[in-house]
Amino acid sequence: MKKIVFATNNAHKLQELRQMIGDRYEVLGLADIGCHEDIPETGHFIEENAQIKARYVKENYGYDCFSDDTGLEIDALGGEPGVHSARYAGPGHDSEANIDKVLSLLQGVTERTARFRTAVVLLQGDEIHLFEGQVEGVILTERHGTGGFGYDSIFQPVEGDGSTFAQMSPQDKNRISHRGRAVAKLVEFLNLQASTN
Ligand code: IMP
Repeated sequence: MKKIVFATNNAHKLQELRQMIGDRYEVLGLADIGCHEDIPETGHFIEENAQIKARYVKENYGYDCFSDDTGLEIDALGGEPGVHSARYAGPGHDSEANIDKVLSLLQGVTERTARFRTAVVLLQGDEIHLFEGQVEGVILTERHGTGGFGYDSIFQPVEGDGSTFAQMSPQDKNRISHRGRAVAKLVEFLNLQASTN
């Protein structure tokens, strides 16, 4: 079986991907290859950050690798938090603080459109491939739901029944989510390759 590395330490993301990819590839996480470093994400765009992480693994560990990076882009905030989504409220702050910051910046704002965008970068041999996924929605004025993570409780996708991502089952969320869509394109690409080799 071919080995490929997913440059993540997130066990949930790894498991999700392994389920989607089936048994054609053995998908290894960073811990599986002994990579315990905190790979610096210094890019100005999510595409750049995804590429930085994949290149780091390829150059230091020699494996073909893919990596993902996601940003929440809020139109009324000029596309912020975008590439700063993970640490919008500052280093050491958590998702709750990030949400509080967004809600306070949007107080009294009626134009609340936003989107999640994910970039997945695959490095295979000396080739690079980019897969993108996005989902449009609005930022609510308060939290709804307890599932998911990050900004899920204030993001209501346009597609759907009015639920936030935090009110959906993981399966329903994955079907329409930014990451679900980008990863589905990656999996389709890899499976097509495996079936023609
Ligand atoms: P990452 O690139 O997947 O680590 O995502 C960066 C940040 O974006 C996370 O720390 C979360 O704050 C936010 N984020 C990414 N994906 C989601 C999602 O599916 N729901 C809510 N927030 C997300």
